[in-house]
Order: sequence, then C-alpha cells, then structure tokens
Amino acid sequence: MLIWANFWYNAGMRGRLISFEGIDGAGKTTQVQLLRDYLQKRGEQVLLTREPGGTYIAEQIRQILLDPQNKGMDELTQVLLFQAARAQIYREVVLPALERGTSVIMDRSRDSSVVYQGIAGGMGREMIERLNDVSTRQTIPDITFLLDVPVKIGKLRREGEEPDLIELQKNSFFQKVRRGYLQLYEEDTTGRIKKIDATKPIAHIAAQIVKLLEEWDSHAAST
Ligand code: TYD
Repeated sequence: MLIWANFWYNAGMRGRLISFEGIDGAGKTTQVQLLRDYLQKRGEQVLLTREPGGTYIAEQIRQILLDPQNKGMDELTQVLLFQAARAQIYREVVLPALERGTSVIMDRSRDSSVVYQGIAGGMGREMIERLNDVSTRQTIPDITFLLDVPVKIGKLRREGEEPDLIELQKNSFFQKVRRGYLQLYEEDTTGRIKKIDATKPIAHIAAQIVKLLEEWDSHAAST
C-alpha cells in the first residue's frame, strides 16, 4: 500500500479532491480527520480544510455567515458570501495544492451551496452551480462522501452546542437539506457521490470510506 501511495505522489500527478457533505451533525468533522490521518500514515501529502473558511480571509467571511446576530442577512448576500469564501480558498489553497500533487480533503464544498441555498433555501440550483463554477474555476471533487443521517439524529448529535445562524433554521429546512443531498446522489450519473449510512459506528464508517477511496484510486490508475 505504501508503495502505491509513494507512486501516486512521486508520479507528479494532480492530487485528489475529496469532499465530505451531509446535514449538520452527520459526523463529517470526525471522518475528515480520520481519513487525513490514514492517508498521512500511508506517506501521502494531504491537506484538510473546511468551507466556509480555511484561510485567514475566508475564516472572517465564515464569522459573518454564521453569526446568529446576522438574522437579517439577505438570502442573496448569504449566497454570495459563501461563494466569496469559496473563491478565496480555491484560489489561495485548494487549486495550488492539487497542482503540486497534494490531495485535499474538504469538510463541505460546492454541494453544500447547491443543497442549503439552491434547494432548501429556494435560490435555484442553476444559479448556484454557475457561481460554483466561477468560484472553483470549474473544479468538481473527484469523490464526495455523503454522510447521510436522519434529521433527528443530526440534531441529537448537536445537542449542547450553541447553534450558529444556519443551525437556527427549523427542522423542516434540514429535512429539505437531507432530501436535497439524496436528490444529488440519485441524479449523479458519474458515480462521484458515495452515500454512506452515517448512523453506523465511527470505525465502520471510516473503513467504508477507505475502501471506497481505494476503489476510486485503482479505477483512476487504470484509466
Ligand atoms: P460547518 O462548518 O459544517 O458547521 P459545523 O462545523 O458547525 O457543523 O458548516 C457551517 C454551516 O454552513 C453549515 O450549517 C452548512 C452551511 N453551509 C451552507 O449553507 N452553504 C455552503 O456553501 C457551505 C459551505 C456551508
């Protein structure tokens, strides 16, 4: 395995772009860290980051977006701020890392905007996808792990945490978010989105993610 990992890095190939998606409380943050640790142990160059945020400037945009005091934020302002943060992290961090052969693991990326703002927020998928293309220079993750949990479980897992501006939304909003993600999964003809039952134990999910990534690697190597 180590041999393969070294081959991947030394061959000067573009790094893989791996994103994690799911409703709030799905357990993404734990899984992104486990995958990062696993790949690093294999000797790979890996970068873990998150959206919105991940750079000095984008983290400041994150604060505006998630501040519960900003209840009066217009929906279009929200869309554009998520995109502004995305443009910053892709241009400053993600695209240069991929170019130098580093794999990037993202705790949320473009699908979050499609689902939260485009579908659940009613802003329309088409506009969001157009903006996503501009912000990312038309970059789509190579593989996306959709951690799927019922809204009730997501909510239970967040108990005790102070809700941010997005988390203040009603349950019905998160139902739409979950359904939105499942819709993206069902419509995905490329096989990019891998749906994971995230009600399962942490180690089981982590093992499934590694297996799916290895399958992706061997497929990529043969094409
Ligand atoms: P996240 O960092 O996952 O929050 P937490 O660590 O508290 O779970 O994401 C912050 C919130 O922003 C989350 O509720 C989802 C939302 N979001 C959007 O609505 N659109 C987007 O494009 C992104 C990236 C996130």
